[in-house]
Amino acid sequence: MIKFIFDEDLPVISHGHGVFVYDTNGRAYLDACSGAAAVNLGHGDPQVLKAMSDQAERITFANRGAFHNEPSERLADRLSALTGYPYVFLCNSGSEAVETALRLTLQYWQECGQPQRSHFLSHAVSYHGATLGGLSLSGHPQRRRVAKALLHGFNELIPPYAYRFAQGRDDVAFSSSLLDDASRTLDAYGAGAAGVVVEPVGGAAGGAITPPDGYLPGLAALCRERDVPLIADEIMCGIGRTGTMLASEHWSIRPDMVVVGKGLGAGYAPVSAVLISRNIIDTIAAGTASVTGGHTYGCNPLGSAVALAALDAIESRGLVDAAAERGSQLRAGLEDLRQRHDVIGEVRGLGLLQGLELVSDRETRNPGDPIGSLTHTLIASARDQGLLLYPVTGGINDAVLVAPPLVTSAEEIDLLLRRLDAALTAMRRTSRCRT
Ligand SMILES: Cc1ncc(COP(=O)(O)O)c(C=O)c1O
Repeated sequence: MIKFIFDEDLPVISHGHGVFVYDTNGRAYLDACSGAAAVNLGHGDPQVLKAMSDQAERITFANRGAFHNEPSERLADRLSALTGYPYVFLCNSGSEAVETALRLTLQYWQECGQPQRSHFLSHAVSYHGATLGGLSLSGHPQRRRVAKALLHGFNELIPPYAYRFAQGRDDVAFSSSLLDDASRTLDAYGAGAAGVVVEPVGGAAGGAITPPDGYLPGLAALCRERDVPLIADEIMCGIGRTGTMLASEHWSIRPDMVVVGKGLGAGYAPVSAVLISRNIIDTIAAGTASVTGGHTYGCNPLGSAVALAALDAIESRGLVDAAAERGSQLRAGLEDLRQRHDVIGEVRGLGLLQGLELVSDRETRNPGDPIGSLTHTLIASARDQGLLLYPVTGGINDAVLVAPPLVTSAEEIDLLLRRLDAALTAMRRTSRCRT
């Protein structure tokens, strides 16, 4: 038996085609969250399936310690060409890639002769993975709970989450107060500070949290001044989802490392990567000249061939621009729904990573009681309408992500919005019945 929530009975998935998935009872669902913000190309993409089967016929696995393999080398070169980062470390999941970025940073400091630098900083509302390093960074009370005894409390920075933390300040004032806080916190750790890890656009913990414009450039400058590496966790927001290849590009920042996953394999294979800047890798090359750690399936030729085909599809079909264009259409439609449905307190996000903050009262901005109940009700109501949304599970607020595949057409965005409208209306009716 495989069950994550013991009293929940989920439908069984049968197959998928484009932006639709089908259960074994023949019900079709418009996948408005790309599975888990991963299936950027929709299901059954012939180009990716062909690359997958061609590679599978040749070889699916190569031991990294014994061989280089062409698909992985080509994928690394391709990612470098697309992003400008000269060195790439390939893993399987987002969590593994986040751990690798932490380990590389620790190794960097050891090779610099400053092994005491071992404390990372991240936001108090954030998600960086389910492993112990990832959870140590995560501001996600719900996920931290069980592993608490083994976790660090790196998640100290005030999150750039204006709806709940700006307290009436405009973007400029909020951004400057966030930077004051970050500066004080970095000072407090002084020569113990190892790195700062941020989601440029937040995902699973708060729901498409989008920082005020001055914040990330200011944070990057603070990190540079103090010589502390900045690591962007773009597992969810990277690879075109927000309308630029990397979300960091929206603010013209260049973190020392960027972590990508999810959309890299586009749901066809588990593959993730750490993109590493020259200063980090040159220091390691001039020292021990060996990057420690790695995973059995890391750099496997099958995952790499799939990721290459997914990147080919993104580039040849102009899907980064499409994410920006469809994102504007989606955003306008969501803003319109906010006008008509009081439960939506805020719409935020960039490109095709949009979030809806759900509130029981717009004035007080209170979430559901208990927290999570509005999210759960909307997810279920949307599923009844044949629409899949992604629940935000941080335990801090009620929110959902609307993050359809980058290949979603204008007509499919309209259909998504109509089904969401119906789901919100049904949700209102149900809650009226209960009162
Ligand atoms: C920003 C971010 N980092 C890391 C992870 C962990 O990735 P994975 O679930 O592939 O381990 C996630 C997953 O949702 C994520 O959104």
